[in-house]
Amino acid sequence: MEDIKTADDGQFLETVSAWISREDHRVTVLANLSSLIYHYLDDVSWCGFYLAEGDDLYLGPFQGKPACTLIPKGRGVCGSAYESGKTLIVDDVLSFPGHIACDSASRSEIVVPLRGFGVLDLDSTKEARFTQREKVLLEKTMEILSSVL
Ligand code: SME
Repeated sequence: MEDIKTADDGQFLETVSAWISREDHRVTVLANLSSLIYHYLDDVSWCGFYLAEGDDLYLGPFQGKPACTLIPKGRGVCGSAYESGKTLIVDDVLSFPGHIACDSASRSEIVVPLRGFGVLDLDSTKEARFTQREKVLLEKTMEILSSVL
């Protein structure tokens, strides 16, 4: 694979489509997707999935340090985004009530939900790292993912 760092957002999405296949197991697809995003975007300390089951979201494939294993729906940034069905950008996690700190170095976060499936979660040690650009890009990425789920 070409160095994903040198791609632009359009090329990144093409690469995502190329790597995502209905033929592969779900864990395989999510593992490669977390790696693609982690290596493409700058200043991301953690990138991965929490998957919905019952009342909780459980830790799925990710890149970064070991993380919290179970998040109740409606709790934390992940559980709140999942319940609302809307992307949540938190510029300063210290001022988000109920933020679940898996890594004390984390300062900002973006969570993109997919109803019935779970969430994509990205963390950064930089405050206000995530903007409209990442929201649009990651929502498109989740749309591509949902086409093979
Ligand atoms: N901070 C998240 C928990 C998951 S970790 O960031 C990997 C939250 O509040 O839901």
